[in-house]
Amino acid sequence: MSDWTELCPTDALPEGEARGFTIDGLRLCAVNDGTGIFVVADLCTHGQAYLSDGYFDAEECVLECPLHGGLFSYRDGSPQGDPAEKPVRTFPIRVEGGRVMVQL
Ligand code: FES
Repeated sequence: MSDWTELCPTDALPEGEARGFTIDGLRLCAVNDGTGIFVVADLCTHGQAYLSDGYFDAEECVLECPLHGGLFSYRDGSPQGDPAEKPVRTFPIRVEGGRVMVQL
């Protein structure tokens, strides 16, 4: 398990937003749904698309891939709708001193 790395200041991820970040060459999608902040791998497991370019549904707790509409839970990374079959990786986060930290 590696060290904690700063993802962004907390005010860079307001409630209701999903944003893509690149940290150490790794593309991540961070979501703030109002109940918390969640981070998953940004690349869809079905094809070459960034989940942060798709749709974010806080009621269903999913990200929808912009290419074929596959759904992924941003809470546990699990696939939630075709054609998504494999989960996306999730990353632990913590908030400290006004910064969102992620464990890569
Ligand atoms: S590339 Fe994401 S569902 Fe196909």
